[in-house]
Amino acid sequence: MTPDTDNQANIATPDNTPQLQAFRAIVESRRSVRRFTDTPIPDDVLADCLRLAMLAPNSSNLQPWEFYVIDNADSRKRAVKNCMNQNAAKTSARLIAVVARTDVWHDHAKQILREYPDTPVPKKVKDYYTKVVAMDFLRGPANVVSVAKWSAIQVVRRIKGPIKSPYYTFEDTKNWATNNTALAAENLMLALRAHGFDSCPMGGFDEPAMKRLLKLGDDHHIVMMIGAGERADNGVYNTQFRFDQTQFVHYV
Ligand SMILES: Cc1cc2nc3c(=O)[nH]c(=O)nc-3n(C[C@H](O)[C@H](O)[C@H](O)COP(=O)(O)O)c2cc1C
Repeated sequence: MTPDTDNQANIATPDNTPQLQAFRAIVESRRSVRRFTDTPIPDDVLADCLRLAMLAPNSSNLQPWEFYVIDNADSRKRAVKNCMNQNAAKTSARLIAVVARTDVWHDHAKQILREYPDTPVPKKVKDYYTKVVAMDFLRGPANVVSVAKWSAIQVVRRIKGPIKSPYYTFEDTKNWATNNTALAAENLMLALRAHGFDSCPMGGFDEPAMKRLLKLGDDHHIVMMIGAGERADNGVYNTQFRFDQTQFVHYV
């Protein structure tokens, strides 16, 4: 497990610090780029972007994500075809499948306890990963455990008040894994931008075909494909715009 190297939680945040300016520059200059130049993304740059992707916040630190960098020439050709031959895939320097895993929570809970940075592992942490996490995800054969969990939660909610719902179905777990993985995907795209490269997230691909190509099973879910590279002059197709904040932000 990578140690927390430089936690700068106390950064002062007046309106225009260099950090804020740098952050704005990265976020505001990120665009979905559909055409890239021939410039490659160096391996060490991509490795750093992936490292930053994996620093994304994630539920219980269970890290249910994977990144398949499709470098093999033949696989890449087939992957581009599976991306409906989109220019963003065809011209990309690197093509990456960002994958959510619904089956790793159990192994990762054990791995967290093995690799926990503090020794001994605090009892609270041990209990959390052996009991709470297990109760959150366990469904049992034919969801039998979920039925019991659902009944128990209704009772607890009525007697004790608010309680977080556990995951009852495969779809619940898939949503959980997808949410976490999408945050990592955004980190990856912003990291590429910070390194002077660009990206295009793609939902327009044939998922069954891509899963066959990458030999992924039923517990792997391709959240998005990301084409990455250096922005070509004609790489951005339109002016960026968003609806007004008032349409989406509710102060309640
Ligand atoms: C989940 C997701 C799927 C997307 N799929 C595609 C795609 O298949 N092809 C494409 O050209 N752009 C795709 N986009 C990019 C969006 O079209 C783009 O983000 C949006 O138009 C806003 O433009 P901007 O990213 O430049 O701000 C996708 C974006 C997301 C987040």
